[in-house]
Amino acid sequence: MAKMAASVLEHGESAFRKIFKFYKRRNPPPDFSDVIDFSKSITNDMVFSVELNPSQVTEADACRVGLKPVRDWRAFGLKGYPGFIFISNPFQPGTQQHWVRQCLKTYPQKPNVCNLDMHMAPSETQDIWSKSADSLLKKNRSKREPKTLLEKLRWVTLGYHYDWNTKTYSPDHYTQFPSDLHSLSQEVAAACGFHGFKAEAGILNYYFSDSSLGIHVDESELDHSRPLLSFSFGQTAVFLLGGTRREDPATPMFMHSGDIMVMSGPSRLLYHAVPCIVPAPADQPLPACLQQPQRSTHLHPNSVIQEVAQEDWELCSRYLQTARVNMTVRQVLGEGQAFPTQMATKGSEGGQKDGYQEEEEDEDVKAKRKRNDSGYDLGS
Ligand code: OGA
Ligand code: MN
Repeated sequence: MAKMAASVLEHGESAFRKIFKFYKRRNPPPDFSDVIDFSKSITNDMVFSVELNPSQVTEADACRVGLKPVRDWRAFGLKGYPGFIFISNPFQPGTQQHWVRQCLKTYPQKPNVCNLDMHMAPSETQDIWSKSADSLLKKNRSKREPKTLLEKLRWVTLGYHYDWNTKTYSPDHYTQFPSDLHSLSQEVAAACGFHGFKAEAGILNYYFSDSSLGIHVDESELDHSRPLLSFSFGQTAVFLLGGTRREDPATPMFMHSGDIMVMSGPSRLLYHAVPCIVPAPADQPLPACLQQPQRSTHLHPNSVIQEVAQEDWELCSRYLQTARVNMTVRQVLGEGQAFPTQMATKGSEGGQKDGYQEEEEDEDVKAKRKRNDSGYDLGS
């Protein structure tokens, strides 16, 4: 251990950064054998099963948002990370499609905000989906063709729109949070024992095969006693969960399509990162759970799940063959809490503080410029 500390100091590189770089490497690809896979039978002795109380959410309420009854969920904790809950794909077969379509077609629409708005007029970013469809669906598309807007989409913010420069939310920049995602979040939080969760801010991240998300902690919300929820769709990612200090070592785990992570209690403010997207097996470009047919039984009148038209799914599935979408949902304010009248704006001086925008040692000016509109270093 002392030896490790000395070598870390010598190279100016923390344990977390070392692990991050290990999984970010592409040639040759890293050895994934230490990555916890909650979809398989667990042999790792850090992992334990978590019994969620099925009476917290009725079967009908779970079904309404596309989830299986809570008694059928496979939920896990990790020793050393109290408050961290990993739920291995609790979605009913055929319901992830709704959430994927929302992320690609609906949520990027105004009044929500996306990275493209940073340097394009509202009229140009008005209908990302239909402006991209023809080109994305074209067979034998040449690599030299310009990227579609959908392929340039890196993040979307919902509700209180996160300000990447000041690292704050503001009451002056709020638009209505999508009601279907609010319902999904409320049910997941309730199943984990957090009743009355209010989805007030959302950050959607769009990843491609060469994307990564730097080491950061989500601390801009004003109440940290409420959990942070994370939903993943599409290609598998490696997620690294670290400690309370940026340099603490991290535990790697796979996030597959449909997986949900709940960061609550002491784990709410842990450093974390996504170093890589795992290449899909050549014989299965799309995860099997995204190929399950939608069942009309879920399309109950009060269900928030809507049928996804076949032509829409064609585009979604084409996109997800090389991409991953992650939605994080946050409650910003505690019960009865208000924004302070004068929000302190931290991070705006340009100095590197704790938080999202992770500095890569080897990054050049071009990458830095790119980061400005790509959220927390969701660079490629
Ligand atoms: C985030 C985040 C992780 C992921 O948006 O804050 O940590 O899995 N996302 O994409
Ligand atoms: Mn985060």
